[in-house]
Amino acid sequence: MLPLLISAAAAPLASALELPQGYAPDPVSCPTSLQWIRPAVGLSRDELEWVEGRKKVVLGSLDAYLERLNLDDFDTDEYISRLNYTNQTPIMGMAISGGGFGSAFTGAGLIRALDDRLPAANEQRTGGLLQSMTYLSGLSGGSWPAVSFPSYNFPTADEIVDYWKPEIDRFLTVTNTSAEAATEVVMFEQIAAKHMAGFEIGISDYLGRGFAYEFIPGQSGGLNTTFSGIRNLSNFINHQMPMPIIHLASVEPEDAEYYDLLVPPSNGTIFDLTPFEFGAWEGDVHAFTPTEWLGNQLSNGNPVNSSTCWKGFDRSSLVIGTSAGAFNFWYLESVSNGTLGQFAKRSTTHKSSLAKRLSKPANLNGLVEAFADTFDLNLTEVAYSTFPNPFTNLSLSTGNAHTSPTLKLVDGSETGQTIPLWGQIQPARNVDFIIAWDDSQDADPYSWNNGTNLYNTYLAANATGLPFPVIPPSKTMMNLNYTLHPQFFGCDANLTTTGDDRSPIVLYMANAPYSAYTNFSFWQTATSREQMEDIFVNSFDIVTQANGSWDGEWAECIGCAAVERSLKRVGMERTRQCERCFEKYCWDGELDERELYESDPGVLNPTLILNPGVGFEVWNATNPY
Ligand SMILES: *[C@@H]1O[C@H](CO)[C@@H](O)[C@H](O)[C@H]1NC(C)=O
Ligand SMILES: *[C@@H]1O[C@H](CO)[C@@H](O)[C@H](O)[C@H]1NC(C)=O
Ligand SMILES: *[C@@H]1O[C@H](CO)[C@@H](O)[C@H](O)[C@H]1NC(C)=O
Ligand SMILES: *[C@@H]1O[C@H](CO)[C@@H](O)[C@H](O)[C@H]1NC(C)=O
Ligand SMILES: *[C@@H]1O[C@H](CO)[C@@H](O)[C@H](O)[C@H]1NC(C)=O
Ligand SMILES: *[C@@H]1O[C@H](CO)[C@@H](O)[C@H](O)[C@H]1NC(C)=O
Ligand SMILES: *[C@@H]1O[C@H](CO)[C@@H](O)[C@H](O)[C@H]1NC(C)=O
Ligand SMILES: *[C@@H]1O[C@H](CO)[C@@H](O)[C@H](O)[C@H]1NC(C)=O
Ligand SMILES: *[C@@H]1O[C@H](CO)[C@@H](O)[C@H](O)[C@H]1NC(C)=O
Ligand SMILES: *[C@@H]1O[C@H](CO)[C@@H](O)[C@H](O)[C@H]1NC(C)=O
Ligand SMILES: *[C@@H]1O[C@H](CO)[C@@H](O)[C@H](O)[C@H]1NC(C)=O
Ligand SMILES: *[C@@H]1O[C@H](CO)[C@@H](O)[C@H](O)[C@H]1NC(C)=O
Repeated sequence: MLPLLISAAAAPLASALELPQGYAPDPVSCPTSLQWIRPAVGLSRDELEWVEGRKKVVLGSLDAYLERLNLDDFDTDEYISRLNYTNQTPIMGMAISGGGFGSAFTGAGLIRALDDRLPAANEQRTGGLLQSMTYLSGLSGGSWPAVSFPSYNFPTADEIVDYWKPEIDRFLTVTNTSAEAATEVVMFEQIAAKHMAGFEIGISDYLGRGFAYEFIPGQSGGLNTTFSGIRNLSNFINHQMPMPIIHLASVEPEDAEYYDLLVPPSNGTIFDLTPFEFGAWEGDVHAFTPTEWLGNQLSNGNPVNSSTCWKGFDRSSLVIGTSAGAFNFWYLESVSNGTLGQFAKRSTTHKSSLAKRLSKPANLNGLVEAFADTFDLNLTEVAYSTFPNPFTNLSLSTGNAHTSPTLKLVDGSETGQTIPLWGQIQPARNVDFIIAWDDSQDADPYSWNNGTNLYNTYLAANATGLPFPVIPPSKTMMNLNYTLHPQFFGCDANLTTTGDDRSPIVLYMANAPYSAYTNFSFWQTATSREQMEDIFVNSFDIVTQANGSWDGEWAECIGCAAVERSLKRVGMERTRQCERCFEKYCWDGELDERELYESDPGVLNPTLILNPGVGFEVWNATNPY
């Protein structure tokens, strides 16, 4: 989620013939033998095959990762050979929360700290977990790394920063169009081509174009790069990267409406998008359609217009623009003085003197006016990302998704779950272990984290009957310092929603100030290399617990959680070292709901964890980015 900054209304566009082509979907003849729709039962054949291939690669990476750990009484060779023999390689994933550029960059720091291509990560024995992951999910700002790393064929984090060039602002200060940024007028021209091809466009298209100049490879800011195109990249084909899963939420006419804008309910349908498929596991849709063929309205699983089909609707820029397209929320928050449009409640209107953390509000009306002037479209027509609906008239869909020609999609955070765990906790995916990276900035007003978003996923999982660890409410999370230090949930089956070991173990890690204040404003659209370096070091400190200085056994404890669920499947036992780890780091079910913040309820404002004498003001004075 990222509030948009636009400095002025768009100027008149070039004539139709001169519009830059490439963003609009391409008309093609309809495929004859395509299965347009499949029920949401199990994995698609494509994903199943890919996961089997990935498991073989993971086995080798996991072996090397475990060998680097100092595991007591654990026979890694025996474990690996049993996994190999029984095909029981654990399925692991990581999930990067929403939170604008903050979560995008701190989350990239997580990826970096787990990467076996970074010698320091191997030295700290966290390297190689990345190579052992099968899934990488993202939503909103977290979708940017989750789409960008795969789209660039999975370079290292340090390499990708050179592609991103985060120091260039793509929204506010662009005066000329180059390979690295485009003016507002040029971005409007790019999306105009899609409009002229007959597709509905909106603010998500525009936002996505701006983000794409940073995060998506390809000419003109990845103008025609598609998300399904990831399937063609060598490291995806060779199973050398995790598979991205992106979450999108949706609004329906019967949802709550304020100032003409809709707000999804907490049980709203969560859409799941991979390079293979788009659809949902629960809610109003129980079906999937090929991502490559998004953009075609279907009725009962067949194209409504069988003479022309469209390909290329799934532009990667649209994916990241839609997943982070919370315009309805920003607008509501701005017109309601911060009482409506709250995420799991991330505020954009907090006034604060801490200039690096929170700053000016956006010119939201300028953007609405620009769409009105340029395209003659009003607020309600541009506030959501409109997809032609593949799910109409299916027995597998209900409500609006059954009847409406379009789906109205919004930021994946808007159902209150800002950590994109939903896709990974579907039983079909059999995920054993998930690292949940939380930079959702839900702890007002300083934009740290209080655990609410993880708790919300537990509530939703329990309500839906999905296996998930039991998570305590945010007060306990804060009182026990779980939002300042990593914590495991669900190690023991008795602390899961289903009371058995189908639930993954979740390692929750929240962005917190270890060596730097990384709660910079999500209004910040340009970030210096110096600040990026500090962000990466801070994430590394969180993941490694300050190079193991907090606890020399921490890296081993992560390894214990990674292998835990698979042990029983291969007839091995939890070691005493792992027992010790879980006693120390796995929540035991005890609540601590004391009011520890009576003077200032809920205000989380820590000083540097590695240097507690240094508060924000002191740090800020010596870190002038
Ligand atoms: C798994 O078994 C196959 C065939 O038996 C072997 O080629 C491969 O090297 C093994 N993988 C690992 C990581 O031991
Ligand atoms: C155009 O933009 C590029 C990159 O944003 C910048 O390097 C260049 O100096 C700009 N040129 C002019 C004439 O403003
Ligand atoms: C995107 O455009 C480039 C340059 O015009 C072209 O080479 C490439 O094939 C296009 N890719 C797709 C997926 O259409
Ligand atoms: C991916 O490769 C296939 C087969 O070579 C090709 O038909 C398809 O157009 C490619 N898709 C993209 C998005 O590049
Ligand atoms: C959400 O819950 C309401 C009330 O129980 C129900 O009517 C609605 O169908 C649910 N929505 C979805 C998408 O499951
Ligand atoms: C907006 O809310 C703040 C407190 O959150 C209050 O001080 C201010 O008066 C409100 N402004 C309006 C116009 O209601
Ligand atoms: C926008 O236009 C549509 C008709 O195209 C209308 O139904 C809707 O009420 C309008 N919204 C606003 C905010 O005026
Ligand atoms: C949480 O951290 C604070 C500050 O470091 C410390 O005073 C407190 O004892 C910690 N609480 C727990 C339960 O560890
Ligand atoms: C859950 O099970 C573990 C291991 O059997 C046991 O040590 C623990 O006390 C149990 N916790 C609860 C809350 O029942
Ligand atoms: C799950 O929800 C049900 C129904 O509200 C409730 O009775 C049960 O205690 C919940 N289970 C857990 C583990 O939270
Ligand atoms: C945690 O954050 C949420 C969202 O901002 C808020 O509603 C909740 O009150 C906070 N919890 C505590 C204990 O402060
Ligand atoms: C932080 O430092 C910047 C200069 O780098 C300054 O403009 C700003 O006022 C400082 N903020 C605070 C709260 O000291």
